[in-house]
Amino acid sequence: MSEIRWTDEQETVLRLRDKSILVSAAAGSGKTAVLVERILRHIMDEEHPVDLDRLLVVTFTRAAAAQMKERIREALFAKLKVDPGNPRLQRQEMLLATANITTIDSFCLQVVREHVQELPIDPGFRVVDEKELELLSREVIEDLLEDCYEAQDPKFLAFIDAYADMRNDDVASDMILKLVRAANAQPWPEKWLLKSLKSFEINSLEELAQTDWMQAGLSQVKRGLSGMYSLAALAKEIAEEADGPEMYLPLLTEECDAIEAMCQMDDYAQIGEALAHFVSSLGRLSTKRGTNEEKKEEAKALRNQYKDRAKEILARYYAQELPDVLVDLQEMRAPMEGLIALTLQYLERFAEAKR
Ligand SMILES: Nc1ncnc2c1ncn2[C@@H]1O[C@H](COP(=O)(O)OP(=O)(O)O)[C@@H](O)[C@H]1O
Ligand SMILES: [Mg+2]
Repeated sequence: MSEIRWTDEQETVLRLRDKSILVSAAAGSGKTAVLVERILRHIMDEEHPVDLDRLLVVTFTRAAAAQMKERIREALFAKLKVDPGNPRLQRQEMLLATANITTIDSFCLQVVREHVQELPIDPGFRVVDEKELELLSREVIEDLLEDCYEAQDPKFLAFIDAYADMRNDDVASDMILKLVRAANAQPWPEKWLLKSLKSFEINSLEELAQTDWMQAGLSQVKRGLSGMYSLAALAKEIAEEADGPEMYLPLLTEECDAIEAMCQMDDYAQIGEALAHFVSSLGRLSTKRGTNEEKKEEAKALRNQYKDRAKEILARYYAQELPDVLVDLQEMRAPMEGLIALTLQYLERFAEAKR
């Protein structure tokens, strides 16, 4: 085990300290081996030795946890063979039995068990099985929807009216559960839900432009434009070559410049207008003959690619005018408030039902 000669990449991972590391490598390429070696190096560090029971090593499956523990044991044995009297090594061997080398599930369970007095949970709790959970969830949702219909809350009714079906609760329950899954993937589901509501509290185009998702849209559009620019520049280069399709050059130059100008823009709507103009005023390539056919086809194919890109961006990001987006968002506000209120109530009732 200690005979392994690490590759440079492995050695890099072994040496990195004090930062998060994400290692992605093929099966059998030595990830576990590197992780075990990192653990060993931490334990035996001259300056900052760490005891095994101060580390948390989590895996997804029990088999992986068992393998990890076994390999750490083997590595410790190998080191002890060379240095049998080493008290640090002896101590680690003893600590291995209680070290937190485990699945993420059983680690969480252990944390809950150890802190059960501080939690709103019955100390006699058990882990529910999936089927049981699903039944319970369905029951909670049914009761919840029934109560909401009875209460006739306007936001709830706005949600049902806009997105669900009065005669069939499946649509509403599916939407609630989908949102629950997204919320539960966040560290603070309730906070996240309340924050999500803010995305509908937008009163002007300026506020709209500042939203995270408009900013994300803008950077996608800009990425698309720079892709178009690379294609156009290449097409132009081909037309400039000695036996290239020279007669394409004026149009390709014009388009390349237009795309470059769009790349400089930072305003979502302005880019949309420029792009719409670009697409609607696309000229035809000269049909003059007498040049290298292959290069002609190559330039033409590149041009078709950026033309298609332009149309794609327009269809994908500019299908709707921003003032209409704003109106839509404002109209969605009441139904979304209804949905989020429902989801929050569901979370509360479901927790209560589990209790
Ligand atoms: N640099 C290396 N030289 C020789 N053998 C290696 C090296 N890195 C890993 N191995 C060996 O390759 C095998 C697979 O490694 P493992 O860590 O289980 O891979 P992974 O966890 O990526 O699937 C193990 O027997 C390991 O000891
Ligand atoms: Mg492995």
